[in-house]
Amino acid sequence: MVLASTENKIKKDLKICCIGAGYVGGPTMAMIAKQCPDIHVHVVDLNQERINRWNSHDLPVYEPGLDEVVREARGRNLRFSTQVDQAIAESDIVFIAVNTPTKSFGVGAGRAANLEFVEKCARQIAAVSKGHKIIVEKSTLPVRTAEAVKRILLNSTKEATFDVLSNPEFLAEGTAVADLLNPDRILIGGESDEAVETLASVYSRWVSRDRILTTNLWSSELSKLTANAFLAQRVSSINAISALCEATGADVDEVARAIGTDSRIGPKFLKSSVGFGGSCFQKDILNLVYLCEHFGLKEVAHYWEQVVVMNDYQKRRFSERIVRTMFNTVSDKKIAVLGFAFKKDTNDTRESAAIHVCRSLLDERAKLRIYDPRVPEEQIRAELLASFADPMGSVSEKHKQLVASNVTVLPSAYEAANQSHGIAILTEWDEFKTLDRTRLLESMLRPAFVFDGRSVLNREDWRNDGFEVHTIGKS
Ligand code: UDX
Ligand code: ADP
Repeated sequence: MVLASTENKIKKDLKICCIGAGYVGGPTMAMIAKQCPDIHVHVVDLNQERINRWNSHDLPVYEPGLDEVVREARGRNLRFSTQVDQAIAESDIVFIAVNTPTKSFGVGAGRAANLEFVEKCARQIAAVSKGHKIIVEKSTLPVRTAEAVKRILLNSTKEATFDVLSNPEFLAEGTAVADLLNPDRILIGGESDEAVETLASVYSRWVSRDRILTTNLWSSELSKLTANAFLAQRVSSINAISALCEATGADVDEVARAIGTDSRIGPKFLKSSVGFGGSCFQKDILNLVYLCEHFGLKEVAHYWEQVVVMNDYQKRRFSERIVRTMFNTVSDKKIAVLGFAFKKDTNDTRESAAIHVCRSLLDERAKLRIYDPRVPEEQIRAELLASFADPMGSVSEKHKQLVASNVTVLPSAYEAANQSHGIAILTEWDEFKTLDRTRLLESMLRPAFVFDGRSVLNREDWRNDGFEVHTIGKS
């Protein structure tokens, strides 16, 4: 599709609303409002506490640079509220950025996306809309969801007409502001040239036209799943090699550097780790697997599923290495866990590898002393309790007690490491690279074990100072 490039095509007094003020909706809308002062942007959510925080100094999403973006636009052309109906009714464009977790019950449990929240949004949009509106899918969704949204909208009201577009978000947490400001591409899928052009004209205020790609609806939806599947596949591929490196004496960082200089492979997403996490990778791959199974593509489903299988193996391998190295028992031993977020520079813990490693260590009755610079104690405890939940979401009294008695959350890495038998680094926060080794060593028991699940430490320095260092992908 060829997009008209005339600036004067931009509709005056455009009003946008976004349903869902989470990690995607909040930063994305803040950036649109910052870059387009004449567009009114209203972000709504059912969660009053989340909205209160978006209206405070203490934003619910930690992202470097986000405070400044919100501060510039909030009160000018950016609003956060719980007035969902009013925001929809007033807007020309409605973004849907609600959560789409993997189903935990019923058909497709453990694989398919739970579209309950998206469907509720569509019904709510239909109930309060008049005239014409453009509905934009921002949440990651299974292929053909736009079609379902369109059917719900068209069948639920005679008072309004709709165009439905797919505009997947490619921002990565921790670098969301930079990604939004300077995206590799903006992808818009849709059938109506006019609707596509209206949305493209918003982004074209700061993104050059050649980076705004347009496709049909389904290609756009599938591209998002495929992009995440390819990225996750790279991480699982290098993690698979990390196991071989540990067995053979090769060094996974050296291998990554050697292959990454091949311009066909490229250097990004080759950092071996304790396993990928985050709200997208696993969910999107499972979605892809479900889609392939649905269409009878067994081999394709099996192929992509291995990316998740390898990731689970990597997380398990790391906790087993800790237990094996610490004389085959960690029962009653204090282990300092440094980092709980799924990557640095975010307070998000969804699917964090730390949850799985901590759970395994708790199963072995270790005493965990956890420190993360951005994740609050309640969130850490809630994630660990949830990791013990049965399929109905219940946690046994025994497990509640285990988390209460064996988990302590500390305000610094030094306090976490005090009197500990070992340190496990599970998130690559920059501050862990410059820890005061003498201070740590003085407070730890001997041998002072360090398990570096992110390969952030200089092994030689730590070893020379007297630590016993075990790094992912190094023997
Ligand atoms: C991802 C996609 O990158 C983004 O485009 C999409 O919109 C949402 O999903 P995100 O999950 O926020 O973004 O972070 P990302 O940087 O992709 O990292 C995902 C996980 O992979 C993290 O746990 C990270 O630590 C891990 N990872 C990443 C590695 O272990 N090694 C790498 O080399 C890169
Ligand atoms: P993401 O990472 O995709 O942004 P989040 O879980 O961080 O996901 O955010 C999704 C937000 O959507 C949550 O704050 C949730 O309260 C909100 N939400 C879900 N359904 C609705 C709805 N029908 N109306 C308004 N907000 C909703």
